[in-house]
Amino acid sequence: MTSKWLYGRNVVLTGCSTGMGKEILLILVKKYGCNVMGIARNKAKLDELKKELGDKFSYRRINISSLDDWKNFAKELEDMGFMTDILINNAGMIQPFGQFNDLTDDQIKKVVDTNLLSVVYSCKAMLPTIKKSKYGYICNVASASAILPVGGESIYSATKGGVWALTECLAQELRGFGIGVSCVMPGPVKTDIYKAREGESGPKADSLVESVGITAQTAGKRIVKAIRKGKTRVVTDGVARLMDFGMRVCPATTCKMTGNLMKKFSPKLASFKPIYQEQFDRKDEIKKMKKERNKQVYKKLKDVPQGAFANDDVANI
Ligand SMILES: NC(=O)c1ccc[n+]([C@@H]2O[C@H](COP(=O)([O-])OP(=O)(O)OC[C@H]3O[C@@H](n4cnc5c(N)ncnc54)[C@H](OP(=O)(O)O)[C@@H]3O)[C@@H](O)[C@H]2O)c1
Repeated sequence: MTSKWLYGRNVVLTGCSTGMGKEILLILVKKYGCNVMGIARNKAKLDELKKELGDKFSYRRINISSLDDWKNFAKELEDMGFMTDILINNAGMIQPFGQFNDLTDDQIKKVVDTNLLSVVYSCKAMLPTIKKSKYGYICNVASASAILPVGGESIYSATKGGVWALTECLAQELRGFGIGVSCVMPGPVKTDIYKAREGESGPKADSLVESVGITAQTAGKRIVKAIRKGKTRVVTDGVARLMDFGMRVCPATTCKMTGNLMKKFSPKLASFKPIYQEQFDRKDEIKKMKKERNKQVYKKLKDVPQGAFANDDVANI
């Protein structure tokens, strides 16, 4: 396929009202003349975009975490003659930064629904149409935390890891149909996603991203370029590349080092504090527990008191 294939395509794009999604939308419509059907919730922002982009842009405010909504949406598009060539699953959210144990059931469900199930459902509902297109393409936006899971973002990392795995499988399954598939792994990008994080006020939580992140415009440009070139695995920036490199060369050390560094900087960085605060508060108690545990660990099997194992099979290992 020549790199001009993107011009004039019909695109379904989730999360188009702001951040990276908005930049992807602007490039697709203004530079490539695509017809974009956007999905998001903020009506005021969507109406503003409609005013700016005119007929090339339409939007729907469906529940992305509902398979029925996606199926009805896919049918509506077919009925109105909008034959989708490209599906871009970009909508997403982050979790409150902190220990996995402190997340409520509702917080966990919301992140899984928004980040993972929405992608599963949209692919399921849209694939039959995409398979009919000569230019079929699916692009899922995961995160660098799919490559290197980050403590304090356990559920977020798990959902993005899921998106990555699903996307790689789709790439394998769909190659034979001539359908392109991309999984995008951005590192930190300066968008409002961090301001929407529950229980945190914006600017403090943003400080690290502000210093090392790329802009939404740069991320948008790189994502569209990757789709145009048909790249399966898209690592958008230096931080993501560094994480990727670490996980290729020495995964165990990279994971351990990431946790150690975050712990070290947590007293200074407001967003890391909730992850390690309990460990700092209970430092002496934990130290004592570890010491007692080490004392109790038997050096040789013959030192183990008789009857210590519940059954003989274990003792014979
Ligand atoms: N920013 C980063 O540092 C970063 C890094 C790695 C990966 N990512 C991923 O990149 C993607 C885009 O992130 P971003 O930073 O551009 O985020 P953003 O600025 O917060 O924008 C998120 C977009 O998703 C939409 N959205 C969120 N939940 C939705 C829902 N339930 N239903 C419909 N639309 C929904 C929002 O629209 P409404 O508010 O109008 O509903 C908005 O358009 C996400 O998947 C994110 O996880 C971001």
